[in-house]
Amino acid sequence: MQHHETVPLVAVQRGSGPWLYDHDGNRYLDAISSWWVNLFGHANPRINDALKQQLDTLEHAMLAGFTHEPVVVLSEKLSALTDGALGHCFYASDGSSAVEIALKMSFHSWRNQGLGSKQEFVCLKGGYHGETVGALGVTDVPIFRDAYDALLKPAHTLMSPDARQSIEGESADQVALRAAKELETLLLERAAHISAVIIEPLVQCAGGMAMHSPVYLQEVRRLCTDFNVHFIADEIAVGCGRTGHFFACQHAGVWPDFLCLSKGISGGYLPLSLVMTRNDVYASFYSDSIARGFLHSHSYTGNPLACRAALATLEIFEQDDVLAQNRVLAKRISNELAPLATHEKVGHFRQQGMVWAFDAKVEDTKLAATFSLRFFASALKHELLVRPIGTTVYVMPPYVLSDSDAGFLAERLQTVFDEVIRA
Ligand SMILES: Cc1ncc(COP(=O)(O)O)c(C=O)c1O
Repeated sequence: MQHHETVPLVAVQRGSGPWLYDHDGNRYLDAISSWWVNLFGHANPRINDALKQQLDTLEHAMLAGFTHEPVVVLSEKLSALTDGALGHCFYASDGSSAVEIALKMSFHSWRNQGLGSKQEFVCLKGGYHGETVGALGVTDVPIFRDAYDALLKPAHTLMSPDARQSIEGESADQVALRAAKELETLLLERAAHISAVIIEPLVQCAGGMAMHSPVYLQEVRRLCTDFNVHFIADEIAVGCGRTGHFFACQHAGVWPDFLCLSKGISGGYLPLSLVMTRNDVYASFYSDSIARGFLHSHSYTGNPLACRAALATLEIFEQDDVLAQNRVLAKRISNELAPLATHEKVGHFRQQGMVWAFDAKVEDTKLAATFSLRFFASALKHELLVRPIGTTVYVMPPYVLSDSDAGFLAERLQTVFDEVIRA
């Protein structure tokens, strides 16, 4: 809060497409999709229309003993996107809750199968899965975790496959194999006690946009199957087309046992999250006994308005062939960002689908400590919403940038970077 003495809160009045407008008439290009949620622009007319219709039909009804059309159709559409591999959806409202659900469901499913000793979780260095107590237990980002360490159940935290760790000319695939070996070693020893491995497929976002090879996902799938351990893919940030396929796991041609979605699934409109899972996990809870059932309820679970926003979002994907369009847009943005990629103060310039990131080479420790805040403040002056993670600058824009927006984004990003790095 004290930082706002120097960088005051921006009071947003309205949004339109990729732009946000404040009460003083300033505009900002939302280059980070308002924390990675907005896919098709602010106040999108197609999502707005769908919501207006839903509002006059059903705003909310509890999802216990009751169901409704938007949640049923959404579940069926999502299941079809996995070719039926993940045919069951469990709903909540935010990403952290989806992670809690996946962890609890994994543990409880093993217990129902007589494997109650499987109580431990495996996560990755630099991984982020949310900030509720269970999710924080599998998160390895010190700034969010440290203060609460005493409250958390320890997890096994293994080497990330982050391709930047390449030694002696190793390829990204080789780094992935090296990281997978560490997982194999742990599973050889402790698989009987391990419930699930949780990872962010392809891009560890909040930990600093660390990118890795899809080979790692193939290895995790293989090892989890061999050792009878669940694979939880947290696609809360990387799902919904962000990496180039609708689901990031599709880059590796594998399906996890649990897939968490949130953020972009409602187009960035309303809080919605869900966990998709397989038939065998569902079957492990199917019983006359309530104690064997999966009891996890939130008041707004499967809210019809949020589900309707998600259906409108999926319709845009279908009608506009968004994944193909994004390939063209991503090329355009990469071309525009090319001068930054070769900037002498830029390291590890990287891209995956609609995510771009680089590490600023900041030698001065005082500048490094304040880099993110300075960058954010300077970007606002240049009509850009960008919030670096430490000294990692990234953009993750909505999928609706025009050519001129893309040019604007790249030009202003470079101006801000030069201004901050030379401070
Ligand atoms: C990969 C991942 N998992 C979980 C979460 C938590 O989602 P929420 O902020 O909606 O609780 C986030 C949020 O940034 C995330 O990036």
